[in-house]
Amino acid sequence: MTDAATVTERSLSESYIARRGQLETYFDRTAMEAWARLTSDAPVSRIRATVRAGRDRMRATLLDWLPADLTGRRLLDAGCGTGALALEAARRGADVVAIDLSPKLVALAGERMASELAGGKSHSAGTVDFRVGDMLDPDLGRFDHVVAMDSLIHYHAPDFVRVVGELAARTERSLVVTFAPRTPALTVMHTVGRIFPRGDRAPAIEPVSEGKLRRLLIEAPDMSGWRPGRSARIVSGFYLSQAQEVRHG
Ligand SMILES: C[S@@+](CC[C@H](N)C(=O)[O-])C[C@H]1O[C@@H](n2cnc3c(N)ncnc32)[C@H](O)[C@@H]1O
Repeated sequence: MTDAATVTERSLSESYIARRGQLETYFDRTAMEAWARLTSDAPVSRIRATVRAGRDRMRATLLDWLPADLTGRRLLDAGCGTGALALEAARRGADVVAIDLSPKLVALAGERMASELAGGKSHSAGTVDFRVGDMLDPDLGRFDHVVAMDSLIHYHAPDFVRVVGELAARTERSLVVTFAPRTPALTVMHTVGRIFPRGDRAPAIEPVSEGKLRRLLIEAPDMSGWRPGRSARIVSGFYLSQAQEVRHG
């Protein structure tokens, strides 16, 4: 297991480190139960059901942008949460490294995968190596693809772009990430965190306009040789998030 603290902190900004600490506390303690439920089949409120449906569509979109057959491909699920995307990628043959800051979510992800496989609900052609720690840990090695679903939406745009750049430097083919698009609707209420009661709220989401994000990605020194690809906005009740593909070449 990797520990967030063992990551080489040299290249990380203070704002990234501070936000990462808040996210670890939030996802491992404050909202752990709520996330466990939201990502299960258990009944949830109507508002949360819209979020669940939006997240299902987002996961399907990101997976759709990867090759249908991932046999032999190494994939990083960066900020894997309870592991649904990692499991699906492994079903398609990928060797997945699924990492998250929250030890409890990673433990739950491992349990869910084991019970899916044991229950015969699914088989896995590939593998999933669950880890606790920072997605930027260089010890994770190199990847063919990186997916970060809603795990970078709480970081300031400059940190977001730096993280994507660091991950791109270790990736051969494509990155698929999501960001919180700056829209009037999002400004008013569509933040993922606000679906939870006040005391359970997530660290702020950091919206960024699509145009600005594309510009930052194109201009980032780490991103030479990479270009923004497909983009898709998913809106479902209280869920609003935008997928962005970044391709090599
Ligand atoms: C909104 S949840 C999404 C989880 C999962 N990707 C999904 O869609 O179900 C964001 C996750 O990103 C994780 N995360 C945030 N920053 C991270 C970092 N620097 N390294 C690893 N995980 C991180 C959080 O701990 C949290 O579990």
